[in-house]
Order: sequence, then C-alpha cells, then structure tokens
Amino acid sequence: MDNHSVYRTNVIGAGEAGVAVSVDMEKNVVHQTNSLFWNTIGNDVLGATSLPLYGAFVSEEKCQLFGDVSGKRILEIGCGSGQSLQYVGERHASELWGMDISENQIEKTRQHLSAHGLSAQLICSPMEDTCGLPEDYFDIVYSIYAIGWTTDLEGTFSRIASYLKKDALFIFSWSHPIHKCVVADKNGLTFKKNYFDESWYSVSLGEGTLTLSDRKLSTYVNALAQAGFVIEQLVEQSDEEMLQSRNNDFANKARMLPVTFVLKARKR
Ligand SMILES: C[S@@+](CC[C@H](N)C(=O)[O-])C[C@H]1O[C@@H](n2cnc3c(N)ncnc32)[C@H](O)[C@@H]1O
Repeated sequence: MDNHSVYRTNVIGAGEAGVAVSVDMEKNVVHQTNSLFWNTIGNDVLGATSLPLYGAFVSEEKCQLFGDVSGKRILEIGCGSGQSLQYVGERHASELWGMDISENQIEKTRQHLSAHGLSAQLICSPMEDTCGLPEDYFDIVYSIYAIGWTTDLEGTFSRIASYLKKDALFIFSWSHPIHKCVVADKNGLTFKKNYFDESWYSVSLGEGTLTLSDRKLSTYVNALAQAGFVIEQLVEQSDEEMLQSRNNDFANKARMLPVTFVLKARKR
C-alpha cells in the first residue's frame, strides 16, 4: 500500500481489523485477489460460518427459515468448507449442490462431505458467471456469509432466481452493514464509517488480502425485488441465549445493534 493510498475503516468482530485502502472495483482483479485468499489462508484467518449458524449470534435452530428440507434439491452459493451442506444433507435433502470461486474450498467441501458419508455436485466458479448450474431446478438456494463477495449483486440475484423453481426459496446471511460502521471497546461504541459508503476497498488480513464493499441493507432488498423475489423475512436480532454465553466486546456490541442479517425470499 503506497503513499497515495486512502486508508479507511474495516470492521470485523468488535473492532477495526487489518489495513484497508480504497480501490476501484475491477471484477477480474477482485476475483483473483479473493480466490487467492480463499485458496490459501481463508478459513485459517476468518474461520468458517456454517449452518446451523447464520452468523455469530443467529441460528437456524431458533429461526427455522428452511422448514423441512427432506426430499429437496438444495444449492449453496459459496459453499466454503462444506459444513452447511453437511447440515442439510443430514436432514435428508435429496440433492446437494455447491459452488465456490475457490478450488481449495471446493476440495474441502468434497472431503468434508465424503468424511460424513455424503456427496454433492460441486462447481468451481464465481457466483456472478454462467457456470452450468441447471435452471428452474432447485427448491432452496442458500448462502452463508458469501453473497457479499459478489462484484455484481443484481446479476447474481438474477442468476440465483434462474436456478430456482417458481415459489422456491432463497435464504442468505451476511454482515449487517450497520455493524461494519461501528467499533466497540471498553469505552462503548464509536461510529467510524459512513453507512451510505458502498465504495470498494482492499484489506490486509494475516498474510493475505481481500477486496470487498459494504452495501446498505436497502441495496440488498432492492436488488432482490429487481430480480423477482418477494421477501418473507428479515432477521436482525441476535439470539439472547447465545449472547449470554459470551462476555466480550463483540457480544456487547451485538447486544446494542445487529451484527448479522438473514434474508428469506421467495421467487415469484
Ligand atoms: C466466509 S466464506 C463462507 C463459506 C461457508 N459458509 C463457510 O463458512 O465455509 C466465503 C466463501 O465465499 C467464496 N467466494 C468469495 N467470492 C466468491 C465469488 N465471487 N463467487 C463464489 N464464491 C465466492 C469463498 O471462496 C469462500 O469459500
């Protein structure tokens, strides 16, 4: 990061993380940077977020957004380490499919599922691109902390709509955008970033770099509507029991504002 870099806030957990600089969004560069991160140190630095968890303090066990998945054809966007596919596979989904930009993550999913006696059709591709997934085919498409990596939100939601049957479900979770603006420490909460700023930035984490932008909640809602979805539920609330078991700056922050959101939408 050179002398001309514009440094800015990047929030993970309770506080500021890594050195972040503003960048122009170039799709191929973003894909190269992010797939390198996930092909190498990804989960070691950021861990995994997988069902039944939608994020640190929101769980499918409480929210029950999926309903009965038995006999359903299910696709995960950004399948990562494969733990969420295991969760739906063990609940008797009829077909498991996963896609991810990272070869390494796809291989992790394959091995993880195989170790649990499960298998899936796995495709390595950016979610923004045509990748051979069948159209009008799935009962549920879901994504846990992966949708926000897209360089083209409206295009990605349109593609996801095309994979789904009519009236089928799309459920995804991501960092709540208000959480990305606020830092917590022993003195309380401090607003550090403009909520309306959706510009792209690169951040150094561990030995790696990630490039992303923080979109407003309305950007997600409006892009869903544009792609032909009807929203059925928006979850912002942290789970009280999960909060009670944690006593740190991040949990204190999650008591005051949403850190994860989950959207459940249906294809019209
Ligand atoms: C935070 S992880 C979440 C994945 C999964 N829930 C887990 O915990 O293992 C984000 C995943 O999105 C994938 N990803 C990032 N950008 C992507 C893109 N443009 N298209 C498809 N997958 C992408 C990464 O390779 C990574 O596996």
